[in-house]
Amino acid sequence: MDMEKPMDMNQSLNNTTILVTGGAGFIGSNLCEELLKHNCKVICFDNFSTGKMENILPLFDNERFKLIVGDIRNIDDCHKAVSGVDYILHEAALGSVPRSIKDPITSNDVNVSGFLNMLVAAKDANVKRFIYAASSSTYGDSASLPKVEDVIGKPLSPYAITKYVNELYADVFSRTYGIECIGLRYFNVFGQRQDPYGVYAAVIPLFVKKFMNHESPIINGDGENSRDFTYIKNVVQMNILALTTTNKAALNTVYNTAFGERTTLNQLVGYLKEYLSEYDPLIADVKIEYGPNRSGDIPHSLASIDKAKSLLGYNPHYNMREGLREAVEWYWENLK
Ligand SMILES: NC(=O)c1ccc[n+]([C@@H]2O[C@H](COP(=O)([O-])OP(=O)(O)OC[C@H]3O[C@@H](n4cnc5c(N)ncnc54)[C@H](O)[C@@H]3O)[C@@H](O)[C@H]2O)c1
Repeated sequence: MDMEKPMDMNQSLNNTTILVTGGAGFIGSNLCEELLKHNCKVICFDNFSTGKMENILPLFDNERFKLIVGDIRNIDDCHKAVSGVDYILHEAALGSVPRSIKDPITSNDVNVSGFLNMLVAAKDANVKRFIYAASSSTYGDSASLPKVEDVIGKPLSPYAITKYVNELYADVFSRTYGIECIGLRYFNVFGQRQDPYGVYAAVIPLFVKKFMNHESPIINGDGENSRDFTYIKNVVQMNILALTTTNKAALNTVYNTAFGERTTLNQLVGYLKEYLSEYDPLIADVKIEYGPNRSGDIPHSLASIDKAKSLLGYNPHYNMREGLREAVEWYWENLK
């Protein structure tokens, strides 16, 4: 598929102004890039705590792109950012379960207080729709598979609590103030620009970087834990559908945002080895190491995507392996 083409040029977004909070991050920068192809004005609002200028630098070539540096914990910054905006894609948050276990207060400040600030600012500015990044971590200790939206367990980390609280606030705001909200429960998203550096790096970019350096990736547990790894382009598609849906029954609810297939960590490292050794044959000999299970981790995660299919017309184009091939190609070109 041609990286430069919009998935489906959506006329209803033509000339609208869309605010992407966390737009300098992994998912946010991919959303900004795609939205510009739909002829929108795009405002990226970010404090660069985990986001990077290099993620958005090419976007400044487009005169419809604008950056506001600010913090969602500051209500004045939020009010300024939402002025004149039609839609909001709220991605800004502190990700990572281990980060929230180490510092729950900061995760709560950003993910809960910052979220509430953005909702208030959106309501005050009469924004048409508020789409936000929810999380599969909300399923907590529920063992049922596949995960369906209305069956959740108890949260297993401070991060999971923050993401669940977001859903509760969005629901109350839609009932109380009539603001249209849609939450997208992302399942282990991966793809271009996901940060491979730092102690809280996600597993795919971390392992790619390890393999490229001929270092052994360390799998937490026996490698038989599984995840519904979701390619970024499927996530972008969901956001566009949530922005543009005219189906009233599709509003004010949450959707699993995934491919709907699970892959074990052992399978994942097998695919990574296979794809990366096409670029560097020595990677085929890199050994895998195993460490203890991580606190807050669930053994298996697999989404039912039936709700998104029926209410939003979601039709993910990339399975895990197709996405992984593209991601590996991007990392090879950009990390080398
Ligand atoms: N990546 C995943 O697999 C995944 C899974 C579930 C949910 N999510 C959610 O998706 C969203 C985006 O995640 P990502 O993977 O792109 O992470 P990311 O860290 O790459 O992006 C987050 C962005 O938010 C910005 N930000 C953080 N705190 C801020 C603040 N106080 N004010 C303004 N900006 C701030 C960061 O600088 C960064 O650019 C987050 O809400 C995350 O919780 C991600």
